[in-house]
Amino acid sequence: MDKIIVRGNGPLSGQIPIAGAKNACLALMPATLLSEEPLTLTNAPRLSDIRTMTQLLASLGAEVTALQEGKVLATSCHGEINPVADYEIVRKMRASNLVLGPLLARLGHAVVSLPGGCAIGARPMDIHIDALSALGAEIELREGYLHAKAAGGLRGAVHEMRFASVGATENFLMAASLAKGTSVLKNAAREPEIVDLAQCLRAMGAQIEGEGTSTITIQGVDRLHGATHPVVTDRIELGTYMLAPAICGGEVECLGGKIALVESFCEKLDAAGISVEETERGLKVKRKNGRIRAVDVVTEPFPGFPTDLQAQMMALLCTAEGTSVLEEKIFENRFMHAPELARMGARIEVHGGHATVHGVERLKGAPVMATDLRASVSLILAGLAAEGETVVSRVYHLDRGYERVEEKLRAVGAQIERVKDEA
Ligand code: UD1
Repeated sequence: MDKIIVRGNGPLSGQIPIAGAKNACLALMPATLLSEEPLTLTNAPRLSDIRTMTQLLASLGAEVTALQEGKVLATSCHGEINPVADYEIVRKMRASNLVLGPLLARLGHAVVSLPGGCAIGARPMDIHIDALSALGAEIELREGYLHAKAAGGLRGAVHEMRFASVGATENFLMAASLAKGTSVLKNAAREPEIVDLAQCLRAMGAQIEGEGTSTITIQGVDRLHGATHPVVTDRIELGTYMLAPAICGGEVECLGGKIALVESFCEKLDAAGISVEETERGLKVKRKNGRIRAVDVVTEPFPGFPTDLQAQMMALLCTAEGTSVLEEKIFENRFMHAPELARMGARIEVHGGHATVHGVERLKGAPVMATDLRASVSLILAGLAAEGETVVSRVYHLDRGYERVEEKLRAVGAQIERVKDEA
């Protein structure tokens, strides 16, 4: 298993290209199940989660070809479709549940294992089940699998979700696109990845309005056709790399970045003493004069502060002047990085959904362990500014969501390398 070694060093400078969004791509790929014609996704990120989705779709009978070094995914699903998403693949990644809506819409039935994914909370499926049941599906859980069927096909309906779940909104959008009649989803998630999926579905012939707001209206159509769609920029990768110069000093331009993708995050950066400027090519980030200031952060659905940037923000606040409180409102168990940061000298107290971070002058390098995808990158960020060497193990989590992290950071002057773990 690989390890990443980071040595704390001075200011960073240069440019970091931001990839297409993992979370958007994971929702776009299953859309290929909705049509017999090919769907081509450009600007796809090259990540292990994308390979897992490729494997899952292949097991269902779709063809996924990676072109131009994996940056273009040519997908097609014209033959016979297998309705069973097997536990052995689904357990690797929660986003596998995004095949449920499309399989139901195309075949009228589906058998999908309950998902796994990062161990950051209970993450049940009730909101997905309620949303698809509103469209006429009958869903029951047997032996770890959701058995879903819609005798006579899905029917449009008005449905309000109890919480604006990202995945459930995506499943509903895909299923309702081929349902009979009109569907209205209330309290829909508003994330940019939802907007991206709606745009792609529209390019495939779906009739969707209101994406990016809390109410989305979908007029079902009989069939969808092929399309080519560029994957939106990864706002979480963007926010992560914006924190590199914030933590180490210097100035870095994140290519492809836009304020609109990370507005609430930029507000917190500004309050902490980091300036962000939108340029023609992306976002230029640098630390204003003096030490980082403490800020309080509450994670919320978009447009609120993203939970997927909470761990990285905590890495920044470890060396801020003063005390910051981070409140996690999306996942109940998402502070596993706190004890690892504490190994590097951070002073953090976790009580339920709150973490209180008392800023220290400087962190010190230490051996630490990645516990989930975003936690792992927060340890790398912390290591970039720590005194001495930080060795991050279990970096397979990192490879699920960040392509070539060490290359991208080395290009702006960071001292970081990947080594094979002999143990
Ligand atoms: C997506 C993102 C993930 C991000 C999360 C929140 C992808 C592939 N992943 O995950 O990176 O952290 O949004 O922004 O896009 N919940 C239920 N019942 C359900 C569904 C969800 O209780 O049926 C709960 C979850 O346990 C969690 C919260 O709702 O506490 C948010 O989940 P959701 O928005 O569905 O996240 P995902 O789509 O799984």
